[in-house]
Amino acid sequence: MSKYKIAWLPGDGIGKDVMDATKIVLDAVKLDAEYIHGDIGWEFWCKEGDAFPQRTVDLLKNVDAAMFGAITSKPVKAAESELVPALKGKGLVYRSPIVRMRQLFDLYTCLRPCKGYAGNPLNFKEGIDIVVFRENTEDLYAGVEFNPVPQELADVLAKISKPFAPFSDLPLNQFAISCKVNTQKGSERIVRAAFDFARKNKRKKVTVVHKANVVRATDGLFFEAAKKVAKEFPEIQMDDANVDAICMWLLKNPYNYDVLVAPNLYGDIISDLAAQMVGGLGFGCSGNIGEKLAVFEPSHGSAPKYAGQYKVNPIATILAAKMMLDWLGETEKATRIERATASVIKDGRVRTYDMGGTSSTLDMANAIAQHLAD
Ligand code: NAI
Ligand code: MG
Repeated sequence: MSKYKIAWLPGDGIGKDVMDATKIVLDAVKLDAEYIHGDIGWEFWCKEGDAFPQRTVDLLKNVDAAMFGAITSKPVKAAESELVPALKGKGLVYRSPIVRMRQLFDLYTCLRPCKGYAGNPLNFKEGIDIVVFRENTEDLYAGVEFNPVPQELADVLAKISKPFAPFSDLPLNQFAISCKVNTQKGSERIVRAAFDFARKNKRKKVTVVHKANVVRATDGLFFEAAKKVAKEFPEIQMDDANVDAICMWLLKNPYNYDVLVAPNLYGDIISDLAAQMVGGLGFGCSGNIGEKLAVFEPSHGSAPKYAGQYKVNPIATILAAKMMLDWLGETEKATRIERATASVIKDGRVRTYDMGGTSSTLDMANAIAQHLAD
């Protein structure tokens, strides 16, 4: 029997290409694992009306970790299942499998390391090393949204919220409401995850990102929770920044930042900004981490125009696999993968199109595997 059971979820489009490449690297590092394929993505929505079938949910209940490629998701209106012949008349609503997975398995930490490897022609500046902790289950992603707004809600808001009053005269279909929901528990646990990481990895500072001067209730709660948790980690410096300001400061002086922690939406935005500074979509990797399960993925999507061409950069997914090994406690193998990837980047002979080269997805994986063997 293998030491680990890993759910293997390639998904759609280039998800398959980058996962094939990642398997080459995991095999080269000789991880003692059984990889179990799971169905996920647009194909299964079209065939079965469910992009994240129950059998895949069950699979995730019985594995040590999961690797996920990417899925194609389209903006789908309530009646979209009418557009898919096999689903006509069923009135199904498409829901993003990854958002569902995060909520079902309470994968509350979204961990996004943004490290610039020496010699990457796409580096904004050399030597950037920022780690973003994004809350992954609540905030504006809570899914509490109204369009049109129900009369009962408009009535209550008009009564209890003074600033809301001017809108209450509008017809109900002329405005929409998305609720930003941040809990004490949700805020404390993501901040604690960031500080724990800083402690374990000898990082010096955690910066809390918010907009508490304007969004007083929710971001105020998040910031207060952060200050409370910070007291448990006296050896680590805490500071804070408004989300708008940090977008400027990150570009101006990325070396001032170490670990960042933010509510869901701000975390999504600043992690894309930070990822672009260290190479962009081909380098952005991500871990969705809960107490029992963690799912690792590249930050990019399924890039349908390149699907099956083995042209895109697999490094984001290979670094996601490295994160998975760290999470499993296989730190020696994780470090070897990172070193081999860094060597191939520095060496510069094998580069995919985004790095200005002509190498294929599998050339890149094989070059990294070769370094592992050396
Ligand atoms: P995308 O990330 O799939 O691709 C945008 C462009 O970025 C590509 O056309 C390509 O030029 C480049 N790119 C992406 N990955 C790359 C890689 N590994 N190496 C080199 N270049 C790369 O975003 P897009 O086109 O907006 O979305 C396509 C589909 O993916 C949509 O259906 C979207 O909903 C979905 N998506 C899924 C995500 C997920 O599965 N977690 C995340 C983001 C988008
Ligand atoms: Mg994003």
